[in-house]
Amino acid sequence: MGRPPAARRRRRLTVGGPGTDHPVMTMLEQAEAAERAMSEELDRTVVTSVIYTSGERDPRVPVTRPDNGKRVMMGADPRLPRMPDRPTLFDFFKYRFGPANHLMQSARLAMKHGVEEKVVLACLLHDIAIAGFIRGDHGYWAAQMLEPYVDEEVSWAIRYHQALRFYPDESVGYRYPELYKKLFGADYTPDPYIERDYRYARDHKWYMTARLICVNDLYAFDPTVQVELEEFTDVVGRHFKQPEEGLGWDASPSAHMWRTIICPTKYL
Ligand SMILES: [Fe+2]
Ligand SMILES: [Fe+2]
Repeated sequence: MGRPPAARRRRRLTVGGPGTDHPVMTMLEQAEAAERAMSEELDRTVVTSVIYTSGERDPRVPVTRPDNGKRVMMGADPRLPRMPDRPTLFDFFKYRFGPANHLMQSARLAMKHGVEEKVVLACLLHDIAIAGFIRGDHGYWAAQMLEPYVDEEVSWAIRYHQALRFYPDESVGYRYPELYKKLFGADYTPDPYIERDYRYARDHKWYMTARLICVNDLYAFDPTVQVELEEFTDVVGRHFKQPEEGLGWDASPSAHMWRTIICPTKYL
């Protein structure tokens, strides 16, 4: 997509710097510059990461950048809603995560059961990897994403809910989910690493925190019940360490994972 001639002419006037006639952009010029930047972004070649397409294509075949003379995507993908400059956890829910009804209903149920606030937070966040990142091993991914920002017990519980959900615990009324029989078949056996992690978690002091995620994990959630994110503003405010620079633009060990969610098609 080429730049419109008017915008191109205007650009010469607005480059600014010492000795230029128009060092400051007017509102109109700013709007045009933004539009131009957007059209240039739209015109970039998107090269997706191997993991997005692996299986649909053979990952051993190198991904080659089409030689079309265009620049590659190195920032915000214009096909996606723009994130605020300093995104909060809720901004990820609003702009990058799929329907979060399951998470919010689970957190509401946990609240109704009168559990500690950090367990409510754990329920609200337990499946964020499914909602917006990587589905396989979602408990491990979510825990890693969240570790720098939540109490250790919260991320621990999220990591291990992944394994515990395959194993019943009658003492709290948790049965093997009927849905799993449908999804995986009645004869499904979890992988050995899931079995190992289940056994480890079962003897851990935070076992019940992870188990409470499973107990409040609604498998057949009611699509007619609407829960608003704002219901959890106070819990998140008290228990999630929102970085000032914005989630993803901070220097935590998992900030890059949040950045990847912001800009999932960045070339490098
Ligand atoms: Fe889960
Ligand atoms: Fe869940």
